[in-house]
Amino acid sequence: MRAEWVIVTDGQDRWHRWLLDVRFGGDAAARQQDLTRYLYPVRDSVLDRARLQPGDTVLDVGAGDGLIAFGALERLGPSGQVIFSDISQDLLDHCRKAATAEGLAGRCRFVLAPADSLDGVPDASVDVVTTRSVLIYVKDKAAALREFYRVLRPGGRVSLSEPINVLMSPCDPGLFFGYDVGPVRELAAKVEALYDSIQPPGVDPMLDFDDRDLVGHAVDAGFPAVDLELQVSVRSAKQPVPWERFLRMSGNPLMPPLAEALGQVLSPGEFTAFTDCLRPLIEAGTGRERRAIAYLTAVKE
Ligand SMILES: C[S@@+](CC[C@H](N)C(=O)[O-])C[C@H]1O[C@@H](n2cnc3c(N)ncnc32)[C@H](O)[C@@H]1O
Repeated sequence: MRAEWVIVTDGQDRWHRWLLDVRFGGDAAARQQDLTRYLYPVRDSVLDRARLQPGDTVLDVGAGDGLIAFGALERLGPSGQVIFSDISQDLLDHCRKAATAEGLAGRCRFVLAPADSLDGVPDASVDVVTTRSVLIYVKDKAAALREFYRVLRPGGRVSLSEPINVLMSPCDPGLFFGYDVGPVRELAAKVEALYDSIQPPGVDPMLDFDDRDLVGHAVDAGFPAVDLELQVSVRSAKQPVPWERFLRMSGNPLMPPLAEALGQVLSPGEFTAFTDCLRPLIEAGTGRERRAIAYLTAVKE
């Protein structure tokens, strides 16, 4: 449905750069592969659970490059409206441009607002709130759920999906993001210490919650009906990734790409020793894959 256009990420904010470039290591083919393999199925699960009706107004919080929001526009039909909200003006501009190119702009609104303070979205004004992989960046998740409750009309629904990071890498403390780098374990610890200094475990919003907290916040916000499904998968192999691409990737927008992180904490000799060990594992996909995703739905009376 969406038009192809040249993606320019230079000079854009970090959310835009990461979403459209760094998370795929700058590789357009990898982006398409990830969309097909992981992201479209999650989008479809969120939208299935949202039980959209023709003519609904959907608010997609943290819309990013529009994964969920454009999917909603397609499902809603010509009478449905979608409000794209995000803290990134660059991403909102990107979505506005895409919507205009598709002739959809008349059914879209764009609101610059954080999830926990949705100013610009009136009380009881939307039928559905969707969000995917956004609360994980929000410190006050309880406030975000209260905002979702506030903006929904009676009978309105929330459908959201969040990765549960505490059920991923931290479950394999001996591995470096799922890879067994035993011979250079002490070098891996230096890199992990850098990551921990940027995102302290137990304190950082990405690492301070699990699925039970999401349910609690939804109940506390006032939703009388809340359901959550947790999907956890562990696999003994990872997707092989070309090394140069892997060096350009980072796990989330707040982290430096791997090459940058290694350059910050390893000497040139350590860099060589570490990458000599890690590279073949990355290229062969020799590692443990963990995924943990929560799908929460809630209905307002
Ligand atoms: C991982 S992306 C997900 C984007 C989109 N929802 C998707 O499914 O592809 C996270 C998005 O959340 C936005 N974001 C980060 N912190 C936010 C906050 N406090 N409130 C609202 N959006 C936020 C970012 O700008 C980015 O667009």
